[in-house]
Amino acid sequence: MVLTDKLGRSISYLRLSVTDRCNLRCVYCVTKDFKFIPHPDILRYEEMLRLIGLATSMNISKLRLTGGEPFARRGFMDFIGEIMSRHEDIDLRITTNGTTIKNVVPDLKKIGVRRLNISLDTLNRQTFKEVTGKDHLNDVLATIESCLSAGIKIKINAVAMKGTNDKELGVFLDFARKNPVDLRFIEFMPMGDDTQSDRQFWSADDILLQAKEFANLIPAERTPDNRGPARMYTIENGKGRLGLISPVSSHFCGTCNRLRITSDGQLRTCLFSDRTYNLRNILRNPKLGDDQLLRVIAAATRDKPLGYHLLESRSGNEGVCTTQMSSIGG
Ligand code: 5AD
Ligand code: SF4
Repeated sequence: MVLTDKLGRSISYLRLSVTDRCNLRCVYCVTKDFKFIPHPDILRYEEMLRLIGLATSMNISKLRLTGGEPFARRGFMDFIGEIMSRHEDIDLRITTNGTTIKNVVPDLKKIGVRRLNISLDTLNRQTFKEVTGKDHLNDVLATIESCLSAGIKIKINAVAMKGTNDKELGVFLDFARKNPVDLRFIEFMPMGDDTQSDRQFWSADDILLQAKEFANLIPAERTPDNRGPARMYTIENGKGRLGLISPVSSHFCGTCNRLRITSDGQLRTCLFSDRTYNLRNILRNPKLGDDQLLRVIAAATRDKPLGYHLLESRSGNEGVCTTQMSSIGG
């Protein structure tokens, strides 16, 4: 069975958030009066494994584990190990803030994790404190270093913010010149009760223009490894690459292949839509089985919206949806 929607988009990619807890408080992610999901509502790992099994039976081959901060959840390493042993061929990546894992990198490698996406918006210690509320820049850099020496591939995701990291392009490009990492700037999306993104918005086109002042950039070939929404550029005389992700200025909704499930078992078919489908209730109802889960997932997918319509129709500086990013997982 292959999951497709009314617009002919087929789904091959699932982002599963394992927790909404995080040790950081990034300004763009956590809203003012955020509430944590109550513990009993968070899916048990066993429940998540059942969902992953169903996803793979529907030809979903890419799994991304997100948070909050996924490593903040107890037992997360064992959970990854279990996924890898049940689904050898799965293309698994984990999105992490990288602040707490420098010492477990060898173990990650051992259980078969080959790639990590690390969120890092700045290479300046003071700015890092301002953005995340914590003084952990050096921990993230140490994590990146141990990943590179262990042979774990790294993507670095930086939310592009005018007035925050727009003076660091040169420094970032130097970093990507020296290190074999994909450094990707993501346009600031208006999520939750956010109003910052409108003031701080820095478009991918602007970033590219400015980046060209610091480096000779060559559009990267479209390879199996370069088919996502990021526009990738190799850096002349550099080991790493620069990527630009433009969910706001130049949407890629037409080819979106993603579903998201939050840590409390709510299926979201679009990042920008508040519409959710409660899979937890089905998972926990002993009278309902995999058939019902599959039916709901398939029906929800058919109605997957075009997110940019929602973005266009929002009023003023409002967030495009009310849910904060820390409980969706990016
Ligand atoms: N706009 C763009 N990217 C965001 N992220 C979180 N919130 C936003 C936002 N409002 C990104 C972070 C993190 C990932 C999980 O989502 O960079 O890497
Ligand atoms: Fe935590 Fe990531 Fe949100 Fe920052 S963006 S607060 S690291 S979940």
